[in-house]
Amino acid sequence: MKQNILVTGASSGFGLLLANELHKRGYNAIGTSRNPEGVQSKVPFKMLALDITEDDSINSFGKKLFSEIDKLDVLINNAGFYLSGLAEETTVTQGKQQFETNFWGTVKLTNELLPYFRKQRFGKIITVSSIMGLISLPGGSYYAASKHALEGYFRSLRFELNEFNIKVSMVEPVGFKTNLVTNSKVAENKISDYDTYRTKLEDYTRDLFAKSDEPTAVVKTLLKLVESKSPKFNHPVGKGSTLFPAIQYFAFKTFENSVIKNINRFKN
Ligand SMILES: NC(=O)c1ccc[n+]([C@@H]2O[C@H](COP(=O)([O-])OP(=O)(O)OC[C@H]3O[C@@H](n4cnc5c(N)ncnc54)[C@H](OP(=O)(O)O)[C@@H]3O)[C@@H](O)[C@H]2O)c1
Repeated sequence: MKQNILVTGASSGFGLLLANELHKRGYNAIGTSRNPEGVQSKVPFKMLALDITEDDSINSFGKKLFSEIDKLDVLINNAGFYLSGLAEETTVTQGKQQFETNFWGTVKLTNELLPYFRKQRFGKIITVSSIMGLISLPGGSYYAASKHALEGYFRSLRFELNEFNIKVSMVEPVGFKTNLVTNSKVAENKISDYDTYRTKLEDYTRDLFAKSDEPTAVVKTLLKLVESKSPKFNHPVGKGSTLFPAIQYFAFKTFENSVIKNINRFKN
């Protein structure tokens, strides 16, 4: 029987590529977007409307999904956005919006679908976190916080769902070429004291994303996880993705000095 796989945020980036590839491989991929009408005619898989920041949208989603399918094999929590900027320059309102999408939106959707997973006594929940869920770099404090929060939350949930045969895993990409930067939001509260550092950091970040890889490696990791019988929890993916967390945890000074040195390459 065909596996049903739900991919949130399938209008763009990782989600779009993954849902296309799943469809090609014979899975029943179902994607979500806040505006599915704009995407449906361009993709071969079914798109459903979902805004993970809207309770009404989430609370009616389980029913809507299960009117299309009779079992859900895999939930891929991929929808999210990037709030960039220095911590002090980011308003708390912006920080809360980051958490509403990346953390609360993901948690609320998972909660909406858990009763169906528990009833069927099998399933997989794969969440696209970020390398920023395992390490922290300057210029994305709330993004890092939201992804660290997801890591902590799902690590607990993994234990709790074990007896229901529901597997919980994370994927932690480094920077890849998607629409994440174009769709990002920027800290609103500029403080002139930070002007020099902010400019250097923006140049560094621009350079990092310009040199980043195409997202195929992330899709490959997600496909492997979909097909794995017993996936482990963390799956860092991309250049340096396994090295950075190890250096941060076991040799923090080395990690810190190398980040500072890399940013200082960009002179004003
Ligand atoms: N690209 C990277 O370098 C990178 C690295 C690490 C982690 N990630 C993570 O990967 C995931 C996918 O991002 P991407 O890089 O593929 O970026 P993207 O191209 O901007 O795609 C983001 C997707 O999320 C959806 N989305 C955003 N806000 C939403 C909301 N409130 N409700 C429902 N859907 C929402 C968007 O759908 P609509 O706008 O159509 O609703 C879109 O399909 C994110 O969680 C991101 O944090 C990306």
